[in-house]
Amino acid sequence: MKKIGIFYGSATGTTQNVSMRIAKMLNIADSDVHDVGKTLPSAVGGYDILVLGTSTWGSGELEDDWFDFLDGIEVLDLRGKEIALFGCGDETMSDTFCSAVGILHDRLSGTGAMFIAPYDTIGYDFDESLAKPAEAEAAVGLLLDEVNHPELTPQRLAGWTKLIMDSQTA
Ligand SMILES: Cc1cc2nc3c(=O)[nH]c(=O)nc-3n(C[C@H](O)[C@H](O)[C@H](O)COP(=O)(O)O)c2cc1C
Repeated sequence: MKKIGIFYGSATGTTQNVSMRIAKMLNIADSDVHDVGKTLPSAVGGYDILVLGTSTWGSGELEDDWFDFLDGIEVLDLRGKEIALFGCGDETMSDTFCSAVGILHDRLSGTGAMFIAPYDTIGYDFDESLAKPAEAEAAVGLLLDEVNHPELTPQRLAGWTKLIMDSQTA
């Protein structure tokens, strides 16, 4: 079975909390959940599936802790690995909702890793996001709004983690 590691950046604890929830749903040990602000990029080498999470700050920017970590992993050869992306944002920031997830996707697209678990945005209410190209039907990963719609998170997490579990056993 493929080994899964979660790597998150979180400024106020929201994405960290969601990471722990994802870990429970995927049956991942706490030791395989990593804060990117306290982890070396080389840690990704120990996993087959990388679950990467970031909140969005500024105006559509990465969470701060991601800067150095992303510099470190975007130059790696990640062929043979799979990447599943998720993020926490605020839909009222309607032109940059969860845009940091799109930044992760774009910056890691040259690593050779395969992106898995895109997730549709039916029922969402935002205008633009770098995580969802205008012509695309789905976002590049799971977008969550714990600020305005925490009640929607459980069903979204259930649907998305199922995609990862399917890939884990494929
Ligand atoms: C100053 C500020 C800027 C933000 N900018 C965005 C943004 O551009 N897009 C977005 O979706 N969310 C934005 N957010 C919302 C955060 O991403 C959201 O609160 C998130 O849950 C924080 O997660 P964290 O605690 O894991 O960092 C912003 C929040 C603040 C306070």
